[in-house]
Amino acid sequence: MTASKPYAELRGRHILLGVSGGIAAYKSVELVRLLKKAGTDVQVLMTPDASRFITPLTLGTVSGRPVLTDIFPEAEDGSWTRHISLGRWADVFVIAPATAQTLAKMAGGFCDNILTATALAARCPLLVCPAMDEDMLVHPATQRNIDALCTYGHSVMPPTYGSLASGLVGQGRLPEPEEIMQRILEMIAADKGGADPAHRDLENIRVLVTAGPTREHVDPVRFLSNPSSGKMGFALAEAAARRGAAVTLICGPAHLDTPPHVERINVESAEEMHDAVMAHREANIVIMAAAVADYAPMERATQKIKKGSGNMVLHLRRTPDILYALQQRRAEGQLLVGFAMETSEGLENARKKLHDKNMDWIVLNMLTAESGFETETNRITLLNRNGHEEALPMMSKREAAEIILDRITSTSDRPAA
Ligand code: CTP
Repeated sequence: MTASKPYAELRGRHILLGVSGGIAAYKSVELVRLLKKAGTDVQVLMTPDASRFITPLTLGTVSGRPVLTDIFPEAEDGSWTRHISLGRWADVFVIAPATAQTLAKMAGGFCDNILTATALAARCPLLVCPAMDEDMLVHPATQRNIDALCTYGHSVMPPTYGSLASGLVGQGRLPEPEEIMQRILEMIAADKGGADPAHRDLENIRVLVTAGPTREHVDPVRFLSNPSSGKMGFALAEAAARRGAAVTLICGPAHLDTPPHVERINVESAEEMHDAVMAHREANIVIMAAAVADYAPMERATQKIKKGSGNMVLHLRRTPDILYALQQRRAEGQLLVGFAMETSEGLENARKKLHDKNMDWIVLNMLTAESGFETETNRITLLNRNGHEEALPMMSKREAAEIILDRITSTSDRPAA
């Protein structure tokens, strides 16, 4: 079978599809059909309850391989260690739909069926697609389980909003098979550091990203700063470059490798970052992920300050607000995205910053142990000037970067090249 064009990158790939017992299991037929059309080799695993919603015969016929429903060989052909070998065989393991029960088992490390046992053993990247009634989804237990899966490094695709099996309307629907296909494609591209040509949606777009902290020197050996690692900004620069953008990354001191195809400009102070940003202010999209110091010492001593016998008073001045300055001289059609790191009243503060600094979008980041400075994961809320507010679950910074780019470029006022 020849691979369909948009998914050419998937051809010959091994995909494990785990189906658990929810009404959205019917969508797995279409997902398997698309995966087969893209030229992948698909092995379906089902939990015992999944076969109450859809038969193994149906999925076995569409996938062209017998569906596995049992860990033990007497029930089906094969070795009893296949839950180990399958996780090594697969390029990606997709669990769609993932019910509340399956999420809970995976979060807890339970392995009482072929799906959960294979998930526990899998070496390949996992894409988990929760689907359930909204009341079950928002329960703290389910949210905690989703967070746990993210901290294990799995990708979690947030369920969408719409009509649910209960007859209610809310969040909990399994994303459409095409969207899941797109995410599989991104995971495979990320794994090999490239992107499917069909997903180079930022070709001919100039993107400016700021990242990391700034340092405001007191003297040659001391400075005021913050613990920003730069990971979020670097992930954004990397994702934008992979999608074809011409990316300039202006960063304060950060111990991270420059992503491929990204022009990096190192700066130290807020003042230097301001000047570098202004020199590149013609970009089509500006994403200000840097944690810019708001205050700097009034004077920087040229020699190390020697201690005296009493206290020392440090007089501080405001640094330039780079975002504010930028929006005052905003290039035509430029999309301006800021970040807000907050410890309390996050939404109120983010809405105010969005408005006061005349941004198109703001990414709110609440400081917690798993989200914020120096972490691998982030839990963000996206807000835009049209009142769109979207709280996302905990996810890796790399995934958050993809979603931020998806959202900001899907607006109707996308900047022209
Ligand atoms: N920012 C900036 N220049 C500054 C301070 C912040 O460009 N001197 C940018 C940040 O990069 C971020 C946004 O403004 O995109 C919001 O930064 P944040 O520090 O959260 O907000 P502040 O405006 O500094 O407000 P406050 O410190 O009072 O929370």
